[in-house]
Amino acid sequence: MDVKGLVLSGGAGTRLRPITHTRAKQLVPVAGKPVLFYGLEAMAEAGIKQVGIIIGDTGDEIRAAVGDGSQFGLEVTFIPQDAPRGLAHAVLTAEEFIGDSAFCMYLGDNLLRDGVAGFVDKFRAGTADAMILLQHVPNPSEYGVAELDASGAVKQLVEKPKEPKSDLALVGVYLFTSSIFDAAKKLEPSWRGEYEITDAIQGLVDSGLRVEPHVVTGWWKDTGQLADMLEANRLVLDAIETDIQGDVVDTKIEGRVVIQAGATVERCHIRGPVVICSGATVRDAYIGPYSAISEDAHVERAEMEHAILLERSSIIGIDTRIEDSLIGADCQIRRSDAIRSANRLLVGDGSRIEIL
Ligand code: DAU
Repeated sequence: MDVKGLVLSGGAGTRLRPITHTRAKQLVPVAGKPVLFYGLEAMAEAGIKQVGIIIGDTGDEIRAAVGDGSQFGLEVTFIPQDAPRGLAHAVLTAEEFIGDSAFCMYLGDNLLRDGVAGFVDKFRAGTADAMILLQHVPNPSEYGVAELDASGAVKQLVEKPKEPKSDLALVGVYLFTSSIFDAAKKLEPSWRGEYEITDAIQGLVDSGLRVEPHVVTGWWKDTGQLADMLEANRLVLDAIETDIQGDVVDTKIEGRVVIQAGATVERCHIRGPVVICSGATVRDAYIGPYSAISEDAHVERAEMEHAILLERSSIIGIDTRIEDSLIGADCQIRRSDAIRSANRLLVGDGSRIEIL
């Protein structure tokens, strides 16, 4: 069975502000790599070749980052959606691209430890009309929620219910046949004004089509919120292997550490898991577990741990350790040489700073 890919990379990203004031939420890096790239790699690993990417206001950035898809071994087609009207609306926008193929829909801000190859293979081999992935979560009201009957078949799906009937959340990966288009066309907007994919899948169930549920056991993260971003960073860093390509001088390295080619590390103590991306310079610094330093960032005479420093930002001459932090791109944090003892801040909207 020919299976195409459909990756959703439109939407607004309001919950990840201020980081998403200046970039698409799917391009925020996790362990030094944009979230979206993990999804595209998962598609390639599942043997999918043709992938449509739904784009919205941030489409130019997504196009620039992904290119023609050949860096992932994919043929990518960009599909503009006029406004973020919901996941089912995004599916309908892609109808012409999908044609009568089966397809794997992947939400561009989701990360799954084990990728999607196993599920795509199962779907190819079976006869289901759709397949949904589920995971037990402590906070089901924040997701689409599935209720299964005694035989394990899908009974009811509800988007972000106030009183969830189970703790099984819908993971942002779905396998569909073209039957989903008819179901999506029958929808009315939900209480939050969106055409919900959850309701379209309920439509398949109600018309007697086979929707097969699978519970995902490896970790899964929807990186739509800041706390989830830090956790996703931790989970990905937990699985890295040491790979040191950059210039490293007089530095003590412990644990698993990636230092990409083009990075410079001098007179430091690095305790992994840590990723330092190309073009970054780190001098006279301590970089502790679960830190990720993005391209062209700079750390000097400072200590950081469990923190993400995005592109081109710098931390210079800070005596107190920076921890549990996410610092956006093009930020400067440095010791002031002013004589008066005062903190001087130029901080973007929606930022949060805790000063000792
Ligand atoms: O992450 C899993 C959850 O994803 C599921 O449990 C929910 O059932 C499902 O509705 C979805 O909920 P979210 O509220 O997290 O979806 P979000 O608005 O964040 O959109 C998911 C991705 O799809 C994101 O990368 C943006 C993109 N998107 C979203 C909309 C609404 C589009 O490309 N177009 C759209 O119209």
